[in-house]
Amino acid sequence: MILKYKSYWRKTGLKGKWGDIYLNHLNTFKPKNFLEIGVFCGVTARNTCEYLNKLHGNSFSYIGIDLFGGDKKSQIDEIEPNFLKNQTFSNPLKNLYYNYIKKENLNSIESNRNLLKKFKKNVKLIAGDTNEVLKKTDISNVDYIFLDGGHSYNTVINDLKIIYEVLKGKNKVILCDDYGAESFIQDVKNAIDDFSNKNNIKIKIIENRFAELIL
Ligand SMILES: C[S@@+](CC[C@H](N)C(=O)[O-])C[C@H]1O[C@@H](n2cnc3c(N)ncnc32)[C@H](O)[C@@H]1O
Repeated sequence: MILKYKSYWRKTGLKGKWGDIYLNHLNTFKPKNFLEIGVFCGVTARNTCEYLNKLHGNSFSYIGIDLFGGDKKSQIDEIEPNFLKNQTFSNPLKNLYYNYIKKENLNSIESNRNLLKKFKKNVKLIAGDTNEVLKKTDISNVDYIFLDGGHSYNTVINDLKIIYEVLKGKNKVILCDDYGAESFIQDVKNAIDDFSNKNNIKIKIIENRFAELIL
């Protein structure tokens, strides 16, 4: 299968080579039921759904959780892309198109729904802070999680703990962004290290950026 991450003329956390690296990682595990924490503008979501659809036809599921512009439970040091506040683009054409012609917030749940509409039967988007909504979400059949939401220590450790309570010992995969030097965030690394030490889980670093944990 040829795996080429597309940007759909939007913003993504996985720019350049990172999208293909991510898809190749997904392809080593071939999951069927997927959870993304931190959907942003939906580009990874759409690439993931395209991939899962190629692999499983209609029988796959994608759950995506994001604030989608809503408020966080706490305001403490969540590192967010600046452009969410006043969506700017270096490409003037994109700026004109999204901000003046379409007047579309690419991080809104409506914009994400629209990008993912061809998979609407498989996709569930949940708006909220994972510190509140993750424990209320049924993730019991999820095989693979891309953890890329709130980046504070407390949020990352909360997300990991909740996922672990449900999926512990089931051989499921968490790919965490921003662990290695290529996109390092200290809080993220500290949380993943503490969680892994406490639960005796090995961390495999992928391409000096992602941390892979097998539960
Ligand atoms: C780095 S972006 C995700 C990038 C996306 N995975 C991609 O590949 O393009 C982080 C996202 O997490 C969301 N976020 C931040 N804190 C959150 C929280 N506590 N709960 C849920 N989502 C959160 C932000 O709204 C933002 O869209």
